[in-house]
Amino acid sequence: MSVDPLLSVDRVDSGYGQTQVLRELSLSVGDGEVVSLVGRNGAGKTTTLRAIMGILTPSSGRVTYRGEDISTLDATETAQRGLAFVPEERRIFPELTVRENLELASYGGAPDVDSLSVGKALDTFENLQKRAGNAGSSLSGGEQQMLAIARALVGGADLVLLDEPTEGLAPYIVRDVMDIVADLNDRGITVLLVEQNVHVCLELADRNYVINQGEIVYEGTSDELRADEEILDRYLGVTA
Ligand SMILES: Nc1ncnc2c1ncn2[C@@H]1O[C@H](COP(=O)(O)OP(=O)(O)OP(=O)(O)O)[C@@H](O)[C@H]1O
Ligand SMILES: [Mg+2]
Repeated sequence: MSVDPLLSVDRVDSGYGQTQVLRELSLSVGDGEVVSLVGRNGAGKTTTLRAIMGILTPSSGRVTYRGEDISTLDATETAQRGLAFVPEERRIFPELTVRENLELASYGGAPDVDSLSVGKALDTFENLQKRAGNAGSSLSGGEQQMLAIARALVGGADLVLLDEPTEGLAPYIVRDVMDIVADLNDRGITVLLVEQNVHVCLELADRNYVINQGEIVYEGTSDELRADEEILDRYLGVTA
């Protein structure tokens, strides 16, 4: 048995052209954990996920997954190893049906990872089952988020990078999405959850990293972060 974390980001610098966004950013995610990366608008959360996934290449530092250096792999190669990125825009195919969206996702992913079949994914997500024949564009925001997550599962992911899954959703749908994330984790899928909403993180995550201006400024369990009024106030705009 290995003691290495599933994912390890080690002093990564990355950004866009001449603009450096991430500054020596380090974090780790253990097998089976839910880890959050929480911070304000523009803090560098999406950039971090892009650097992990291989959409951006770190200019220095290292990203390792299951002990393999994946720093220079592209997004197709990281997906083949079992990483899945569910972007903020919940990228689904609006003109395809729910079932077709899932079928298309099942062609990607790691061949040796136990992926949920399309039928099983539809059984898991009741709302999607009911709308299996409807176009993606006819789904509500919450249902589109469910479909985006279901696509990652069908694709055989074992680490899912979720970029603000609750953004812009009504409170009762936020609850549904939180239940889905908890359920994913119960199935053994590891989650790196990016959020601006610290309440979602505190409820779901085992450990939390707070990011500010491209740097990790805090790491702690949900109990620790909940009790740290200074961090909550200073970086997350939450006043007690
Ligand atoms: N394609 C890009 N080109 C240049 N700069 C970018 C690009 N995308 C993001 N940035 C800049 O990088 C910084 C971090 O952006 P990022 O999208 O990672 O933030 P975020 O934490 O995900 O914010 P949000 O909560 O608004 O999604 C910001 O200053 C942003 O303006
Ligand atoms: Mg973002």
